[in-house]
Amino acid sequence: NWSMHDFIDVQVEKIRAQVKDDKVLLALSGGVDSSVVAALLHKAIGDQLYCMFIDHGLLRKGEAESVVEMFGKNMKINLTKIDAKERFLSKLAGVSDPEKKRKIIGNEFVYTFDEEVKKLIVGEDIKWLAQGTLYTDVIESGTKTAQTIKSHHNVGGLPEDMQFQLIEPLNTLFKDEVRALGIELGLPEEMVWRQPFPGPGLGIRILGDITEDKLHIVRESDAILREEIAKAGLQKEIWQYFTCLTNMRSVGVMGDQRTYDYAVAIRAVTSIDGMTADWAKIPYEVLDVISNRIVNEVPHVNRVVYDITSKPPGTIEFE
Ligand code: XMP
Repeated sequence: NWSMHDFIDVQVEKIRAQVKDDKVLLALSGGVDSSVVAALLHKAIGDQLYCMFIDHGLLRKGEAESVVEMFGKNMKINLTKIDAKERFLSKLAGVSDPEKKRKIIGNEFVYTFDEEVKKLIVGEDIKWLAQGTLYTDVIESGTKTAQTIKSHHNVGGLPEDMQFQLIEPLNTLFKDEVRALGIELGLPEEMVWRQPFPGPGLGIRILGDITEDKLHIVRESDAILREEIAKAGLQKEIWQYFTCLTNMRSVGVMGDQRTYDYAVAIRAVTSIDGMTADWAKIPYEVLDVISNRIVNEVPHVNRVVYDITSKPPGTIEFE
């Protein structure tokens, strides 16, 4: 891919010229975007890159473990893992407004980085903060003239006393270009083809306020969905697929008992760049297995619904 090859050369030079001998901190999430930034920065500045992985307690099942495995053990990148679950969940307790949740998660991220980086021995030398912001994020978070659709937590917005300067090497690229870039940089297929996962994580896939119990429901149901999509060989066809815990409870019957429990929504879309999307036509047989498994295996779920809204007018995430 020649255009990506050129892109890498230009970016590597640009990053080196910008950063010089300084150290760069990257908020590594394990998603495609920050993984590609990590690979690009590692190529440009090697050990001057310090990755910090913050487990905010809003990750999918097994995700934290796989990030440490991949970047720390396999790629041998400087990686610090922070367990910040308590901190995030206590700040989020009782908050149900989507934009407030996004702002809290985004701010906590920045504050946690700031505090944790000061604890690093190399802390005081770190002048730069790298982010995996895409062109789509820049557009959707709004410029001075455009109205904000959703505040993406990974765009700008650093507090005034923050000493970092931003590097956002992907902010002219769409998702498909980021994937091509990842391949060009030698990242494994399965990492580059990972479905996107939003920075606020499961926090925006639980409608209303967030609790440990609700996190358990969305995590377990999502794991079942992912397992069955993989079994059916549909991972590459579907851009993004996840479950969402609706804040709706409804009446059901289990055995001969009346139940009054939560409804889980399945969201699955096909897309090129995330800007527009169609709901994915998952075969009924696959949906049938997913629905049965979720209701039977996940406590406090008695109903599964399938979201058949495209974007626009829906967004991909529910919040
Ligand atoms: P929406 O819901 O706006 O999502 O149609 C479009 C794409 O962006 C992802 N998304 C985010 N990614 N930080 C991110 O890094 C965020 O705050 C965020 N919000 C949404 C979403 O998963 C989809 O791929």
